[in-house]
Amino acid sequence: MAEGVVPEVTGPLVRPRRLRRTPGLRRMVAETVVTPAQLILPVFVREGIGEPVPIASMPGVVQHTRDSLRKAAAEAADLGLGGVMLFGIPERKDATGSGAIDPGGILNLAIADVVGEVGDALTVMSDLCLDEFTDHGHCGVLTPDGRVDNDRTLELYAEMARAHADAGVDMVGPSGMMDGQVRVVRDALDAEGHTDISILAYSAKYASAFFGPFREAVASSLEGDRRTYQQDYANATEGVREALLDVEQGADLVMVKPALGYLDVVRRVRDAVDVPVAAYNVSGEYAMVEAAAAQGWIDREPAILETLTSIRRAGADVVLTYWAAEAASLLTSR
Ligand code: PBG
Repeated sequence: MAEGVVPEVTGPLVRPRRLRRTPGLRRMVAETVVTPAQLILPVFVREGIGEPVPIASMPGVVQHTRDSLRKAAAEAADLGLGGVMLFGIPERKDATGSGAIDPGGILNLAIADVVGEVGDALTVMSDLCLDEFTDHGHCGVLTPDGRVDNDRTLELYAEMARAHADAGVDMVGPSGMMDGQVRVVRDALDAEGHTDISILAYSAKYASAFFGPFREAVASSLEGDRRTYQQDYANATEGVREALLDVEQGADLVMVKPALGYLDVVRRVRDAVDVPVAAYNVSGEYAMVEAAAAQGWIDREPAILETLTSIRRAGADVVLTYWAAEAASLLTSR
């Protein structure tokens, strides 16, 4: 070739920046998208209040009345969210969490309210755990010497599953980290003919400091911690094991929780199972962003979208987040 026809390469031959030049290019090559349908909004409903009660450690999140919960669910359906996850806060608690099973208990009433409001337009999910209903705040019943009794707790989870099913729930979320809980819930549902109700298993749930604000949200009576049943945050392989066990037991989706400190676990679980994977962007993760934004230390909306995108990028198919409704609006207005 004649000299001078091929110009000498002076700069880098490969320029990844080319695909970052315009918003259109960036949008075209974005590997990860977040859509409203992939977001699940956790909501709290409290017995015996006349007005929604703000949760101080979770600015923007409230304990709902039954009425305001119905409105929030209708809004979630209008926004096209993936679902709502219901948590109940009873007026009275006892040692066995009997309010969880009582058909007139707040969570069971709220499930029926929300299903009545949204029908099939939104997936209605329920937290299946005793901790909001026990006076000691643990996720199960205690032995006489104060340990959490796995197998007696399973019997109550079975009853709770039946109560949620009778109230019309679409999907139950067993979150107590008792061994064998998914199997027991599946059997209890099937035995009553509820074979179509699905299970979102809180599979890899870690004993985490990032649940802190949630304890205020549900007026938790817990003293101490949950380290004899929730996982040690040092362990990732064990999280994969828990997810595999839950799939074996009939989980329709598995969850990793919290999300941000556990993105490696999200990825490993995503690669290990063949069911959808959820990740729970928990109360403390929410509170950190809100607190920093309130100080003017970070830019709130971009921080929310970056957070949710990172959880999806790690491998979560769906994300539980207190920002679900707001994020849906942000995503559709972009
Ligand atoms: C248990 C439950 C907890 C959360 C969801 N389900 C609390 C716990 O295990 O201590 C935490 C959610 C959050 O922090 O946002 N019912």
